[in-house]
Amino acid sequence: MNTQTHRLFSRRNFIRTGLIGALSSYGYAYWIEPDRLSVTRQDILLPHLPKSLDGLIIAQLTDFHYQPDSQEELISEAVKITNAANADIIALTGDYITHTTGVFAPLMELLGKLRAKHGIYGVMGNHDGWYGSVSYFKKGFRETGLEFLVNQGTSIKINGENVYITGTDSIWSGTVDSPACYRGHSGEPVIALVHEPDVFDSLRQNHRVDLQLSGHTHGGQCRVPLVGYAPVKVRYGENYIHGEYQKDDSRIFVSRGLGTVGHRVRFACAPEVAILTLRSGRS
Ligand SMILES: [Fe+2]
Repeated sequence: MNTQTHRLFSRRNFIRTGLIGALSSYGYAYWIEPDRLSVTRQDILLPHLPKSLDGLIIAQLTDFHYQPDSQEELISEAVKITNAANADIIALTGDYITHTTGVFAPLMELLGKLRAKHGIYGVMGNHDGWYGSVSYFKKGFRETGLEFLVNQGTSIKINGENVYITGTDSIWSGTVDSPACYRGHSGEPVIALVHEPDVFDSLRQNHRVDLQLSGHTHGGQCRVPLVGYAPVKVRYGENYIHGEYQKDDSRIFVSRGLGTVGHRVRFACAPEVAILTLRSGRS
């Protein structure tokens, strides 16, 4: 084989290997990873959490974007894992649907099986607001026996201590009325449920936020393996993409969520059930 022919074959091999690699990655991202449920178990240190609340478990499920044909098993499994965690509180942080409210009732049939000692609380996501209304989702939650917090909060007593759970509307499809969210708050630790994570900056500047739980970003949905870089950013989810972040005495945890939007692909960014244990202290 002369040098020119050798180079031609090398180039062909390179292109063929590249194509096979790209097709395999796409196949994995399409056929496998969206169904590969992962569980994140993490302690979150809160500087002002009373000692009597140390060990409080919050399970978070978010961004279902429910598709009954392909996701029933995934969501059923997520419900089972969540119930096995014996959570004190379950947070559902929005985007139950993508384009139609027709999938909401079958999703609530599955979510109705969730159990928590001190309540299950949901908030609106941007897709919910674009294709449905607050009253529609609130009614569905109420009929399933779950709480729905939109620009309102509620104080609950756990181990003799009050904890304030507040939920905002989606900032993208609705209006965040933070004074309304804190009406009734009288100094107790605050867990804020907010679909879009970037609301964190304004919320914590004006109000007490011990922990904000958010979704919306899907963790980027596709990330660069090992490095973890997420190239695709979404509006109101540009500053906090996935995992825990700390700002002064406030913490935010952003879950990768369960579903997908746009192309049904996930890469190095598996669907997630988050089981968070609150700890009193600072890192
Ligand atoms: Fe969203």
